[in-house]
Amino acid sequence: MKGILLAGGRGTRLGACTWVTSKQLLPVYDKPMIYHPLSTLMLAGIQDIIIVCDADQEQQYETLLGNGSQLGLRLTYRSQDKPRGIADALIVSGNDIAGSKTCLILGDNIFHGQGFVDYLRQGAALTEGAIIFGYPVADPQHYGVVQFDDSGKVISLEEKPQSPRSNMAVPGLYFYDEHALEYARELTPSARGELEITDLNKRYLAEGTLTVIDFGRGMAWLDTGSPEALLKASQYVETIQARQGYYLACIEEIAWRMGFITLEEFTQSVKRYPGTQYGTYIATLAAEATHD
Ligand code: DAU
Repeated sequence: MKGILLAGGRGTRLGACTWVTSKQLLPVYDKPMIYHPLSTLMLAGIQDIIIVCDADQEQQYETLLGNGSQLGLRLTYRSQDKPRGIADALIVSGNDIAGSKTCLILGDNIFHGQGFVDYLRQGAALTEGAIIFGYPVADPQHYGVVQFDDSGKVISLEEKPQSPRSNMAVPGLYFYDEHALEYARELTPSARGELEITDLNKRYLAEGTLTVIDFGRGMAWLDTGSPEALLKASQYVETIQARQGYYLACIEEIAWRMGFITLEEFTQSVKRYPGTQYGTYIATLAAEATHD
């Protein structure tokens, strides 16, 4: 399975913060936002990842993450000349994903919680169709919304409905079989001029091959598109890290624990973060593992 990480878009709601850089490079507390969706793909066991971003920001992403070899990943950068919609990421990735299953993640979505990795394993084990998720929110009108009947069957999917039929939003994490590229190419732009991911999901629903898994209330799903949401996400990360002593989205730790890099490579990665708490965290974990 290949990963597609969508890191373009204009980030207009963050105002001047996104005039000179991409939203997904802004900090969520102590690390760039993109560390979070990248961690999610890595935890799903995915090592081939296409980062879709604006052409003028590609260099910044490459400076940050390179070709991914330091994390045991193979990163490819593809640029979107304008934000044509989320489903456009599949088209932009074109040849890179032809004949492959894909996991598409939005660069501004953060997931955390007990059992999350089991959901990712379920998604990564997909053989046919699509797997997406549902999560209860107080403001469903701002998201894709899924409605279930009493037996748990999906009866509707709508993008940002004015009168939502349920409080179940669809987070920006989608697992697709090999047909996604072909289906994406058949989509037509919505009224706001975008190729909507909800329309792609509706296609799978129409084919009878869409599975929607309810994350339930026990998980955290945060987005970071507005100043308030970005602040809350930062506070969340700080709270959990300070309480547990374990870091969220430490990509080097995940690479090591997933077996993508060796303990030696993990130990060496501290050199990238001199004088930071993040570096101290890596050094402490590496020293503990060496003495075990
Ligand atoms: O966050 C989940 C929601 O994301 C879903 O519930 C909706 O169904 C889905 O349409 C999407 O809604 P948003 O309006 O929040 O999407 P937004 O335009 O903010 O874009 C999400 C991410 O994708 C963001 O990191 C920017 C990036 N993006 C977006 C577009 C439209 C791109 O890289 N290129 C694009 O063309």
